[in-house]
Amino acid sequence: MKTNPSNPSRREFLTTTTKAGLTVGLLGTAFSDLLAHPHQQVVGTGFTQTPLPYAYTALEPHIDARTMEIHYSKHAAAYASNLRDAAKEEGVDTAQPLEQVLGSISKYSAKMRNNGGGHYNHELFWSILGAPTEGGLPTAAGTPNAPEGALLKALKTSFGSYEAFVSQFETAAKTRFGSGWAWLLVDASGKLVVSSTPNQDNPLMDIAEIKGTPILGLDVWEHAYYLHYQNRRPDYVTAFWKVVNWKAVADRFAAATT
Ligand SMILES: [Fe+2]
Repeated sequence: MKTNPSNPSRREFLTTTTKAGLTVGLLGTAFSDLLAHPHQQVVGTGFTQTPLPYAYTALEPHIDARTMEIHYSKHAAAYASNLRDAAKEEGVDTAQPLEQVLGSISKYSAKMRNNGGGHYNHELFWSILGAPTEGGLPTAAGTPNAPEGALLKALKTSFGSYEAFVSQFETAAKTRFGSGWAWLLVDASGKLVVSSTPNQDNPLMDIAEIKGTPILGLDVWEHAYYLHYQNRRPDYVTAFWKVVNWKAVADRFAAATT
């Protein structure tokens, strides 16, 4: 199955191994996929927060527990709550995957765009983070915490090298003016691309400059790092690599490309 980001009916689901923190959804064409591949679990993003799949302290010292607690229980919780309000106000069926709404976000209100994006982005963010590995900063592929297999091969094909990808992603994160996100996404041709979006926009949205399926995202809003890093966003961006869960990213890559 080849993912076509222009077709929300194919894009809205992640077919991946079960991971705590992702909401299970069984709808539309993906249900037939599940019947064809009963060993796989079809998941999409719901309209409520899923439990954080690790403790607030799990990402220390790179992302501190207080930041994680406020980020998850206050900021992200507010996006989820406001999203449900917007859905109620605009008659949106919350049984559908959120990805489906985001794919036609231009038809909805700014409240839906900001909070739908905010909720989706944070759910993705929590899912691709994990406890720092013993190996520390993955300055080169092959270190304990680095992409491997098909994902590593795709990174090399798309960017020339893993290090070139890291450099491009860091530049996107560090130069995003104001609040926003840096992304690694799979575009319509199956190529990996780095982009950044303002506020709570993301590449799934029909209004995005660069569209595709995000598989890695970095929150560069000040609420994500200010308590620990203050104005030193570049230090936060560099530390991010120490807590990336590459297995989770690889699962999202596989779901987007198979
Ligand atoms: Fe955030």
